Amino acid sequence: MKVTIDGQSIEVEPGTTILQAARMIGGESVPPAMCYYSKLKGSGGKCRCCLVEVSKGSERDPRPMPKLMASCVTGVMDGMEVNSISSQRVLDARKSVTEFLLINHPLDCPVCDQAGECDLQNLSFKHGAGKTRFIEEKRTFEPENIGPNIQLHMNRCILCYRCVMVADQLTDDRVHGVMNRGDHSQISTCISKAIDNEFSGNMIDVCPVGALTDKTFRFKQRVWFNKPFNAHRDCDKCCGKTTLWMFGDEIQRVTGRKDIYHEVEEFICNECRFDHKDPSHWVIEGPRKFEKGSVINQNNYTQKLEKVTIETEHNILLGREQDRKKISMPDVPLTEQGKKKLKEGNV
Ligand code: SF4
Ligand code: FES
Repeated sequence: MKVTIDGQSIEVEPGTTILQAARMIGGESVPPAMCYYSKLKGSGGKCRCCLVEVSKGSERDPRPMPKLMASCVTGVMDGMEVNSISSQRVLDARKSVTEFLLINHPLDCPVCDQAGECDLQNLSFKHGAGKTRFIEEKRTFEPENIGPNIQLHMNRCILCYRCVMVADQLTDDRVHGVMNRGDHSQISTCISKAIDNEFSGNMIDVCPVGALTDKTFRFKQRVWFNKPFNAHRDCDKCCGKTTLWMFGDEIQRVTGRKDIYHEVEEFICNECRFDHKDPSHWVIEGPRKFEKGSVINQNNYTQKLEKVTIETEHNILLGREQDRKKISMPDVPLTEQGKKKLKEGNV
């Protein structure tokens, strides 16, 4: 099947969604996704960030689709033409969706552990407005303890359902879910039961915002000060392939390895994530690369360090020489008044 997105054509298999086709093309045409997660079955269709304009339905029925479509749940048709970043209508819609997502989201990036790797932060940077029009009170929740390893901040949740799907698809018994309806919807554990099954830590990795964070890493470090390394160990529960977030020789956090869409390559078990913070437990493969625009690249080593020579001493001396000339002014002839003062010793 041939699909054209922002003027770029690609052949894809039947059943491919517009978002998947856009990811195959890559670049700026890829719609943002806050709820779709390729490794989770049935994800997508919740956040509406990925809206696109279908200007031609298919070769057989070329009529455009009247409404913007969620690209993560819309399958491509042969001959379909799609506008993503090239459509002002799409850009306006993304701006509105971002504004909606931020209605209840607290502006606590300065104290949030997700800052620097938060999908909502990236989305607002690209599509957000400079100020809010929301004057009503934000929805807030009482803090709830959901176990020894995971911190839930319900105020930050955007109800993408990814964590619920992790619990459903990776763990044997899901004990949390979305309770209530509409504005009262919230992620919670049934009768506050702790989430302690072996793969529950993956909820932290899939959460696009700072609603689910790692208690063992809380307030330890801003992520851009950590140096991420790929590492592995023999594990009988999971693949054992992780990213270690180091500060000096200390492992401050262990996560799954994430790709350019911030999706983990493979899910890891809680033992690898929470219990092995000693570097001798790991075989370190080398630095983990992040996409160029990521804040994690700040203070990092994505390119070879060049030897930089700054000729400070030489430049300072040059300046001094000039200053000396200016101060002593040997080339400037003295005025008559000056000569008189010099003679009298009155300078
Ligand atoms: S807690 Fe995070 S992963 Fe779960 S629904 Fe909320 S935003 Fe999504
Ligand atoms: S990513 Fe498509 S609706 Fe959320």
